Amino acid sequence: MDFEDIETVAVLGAGNMGHGIAEVAALAGYEVRMRDIKEEFVQNGYDNIEWSLNKLAEKDRLTQAEADDALDRVTPLVDVAEAVGDADVIIEAVPEKMEIKKDVYTDVEQHAPEEAIFATNTSSLSITELSEVTERPEQFCGMHFFNPPVRMQLVEVITGAHTSDETLDTVEQLAEEFGKSPVRVRKDSPGFIVNRILVPLMNEACWLVHDDVATIAEVDSTTKFDIGLPMGALELSDQVGNDVGLHVLEYMHETLGEAYDPCPLLEAKVEDEKLGKKTGEGFYDYE
Ligand code: CAA
Repeated sequence: MDFEDIETVAVLGAGNMGHGIAEVAALAGYEVRMRDIKEEFVQNGYDNIEWSLNKLAEKDRLTQAEADDALDRVTPLVDVAEAVGDADVIIEAVPEKMEIKKDVYTDVEQHAPEEAIFATNTSSLSITELSEVTERPEQFCGMHFFNPPVRMQLVEVITGAHTSDETLDTVEQLAEEFGKSPVRVRKDSPGFIVNRILVPLMNEACWLVHDDVATIAEVDSTTKFDIGLPMGALELSDQVGNDVGLHVLEYMHETLGEAYDPCPLLEAKVEDEKLGKKTGEGFYDYE
């Protein structure tokens, strides 16, 4: 698939990342099919896009007409065949579980055009292993956005063992067309570049609170004002989703070793469904 031939982008998953990626693609002028497994999930994603576009217009980052046009380009869908049937690029952003993602690809493969590129927004999982459940591993790569996608500049474009250079070039060009700055990750390795650094940092922040070395406020003011992150480490964990961070850590723990042992405080937040901003409570209260 040549970059110039891309007209339609399908995004699978309308959650935190999926709806944000659909919004970015629509803002870049593409027809977007956003799919999730239930009507209420797609509607929620669509409402979030509308909220975000209106917020961007309110802040003069774009005009209200541009916001309205972008929303018009997003079609919310539940039917997989309809979502991917005429897609040139399919960006998958379903939950961070290997088995769920593999099932999605097995299903999508039956309905997607032969030349369509598959790009996964996985935060850590093996691109090679995912690509091998499809019949097009050379047309498969990672395309990892950051939360919130509409505001974050970086996109990691990750090669799998079978990914062709043509696929990587096309996806990089697409990321640039989305207004992003892609970085090519040369080797398929758990957590890629950013999460290999950031997720252990958020986990260490949890350990400091867990071990009673510092309070949440002390950890966050240190990481924000002294280390210079745009958000405190625990505020960032709430932004990313404590469940997402935990899934990445569990995978890194399993594949890279003991250093990535998840903190019980993080595990407890997830168990109590205090997932961060998206559930209204995490390390902070958002109600
Ligand atoms: N769309 C539109 N507006 C949004 C938004 C969205 N998706 N999300 C937040 N906003 C709004 C807020 O509601 C707020 O509006 P009000 O001022 O009216 O309350 C406004 O944006 C804040 O934006 P500002 O530019 O004024 O504030 P800021 O300079 O702090 O920028 C930020 C906000 C860009 C999110 C910044 O805090 C930041 O860069 N944070 C770090 C985020 C980060 O590192 N993300 C990566 C996490 S790692 C990851 O995602 C990978 C993974 O796989 C786990």
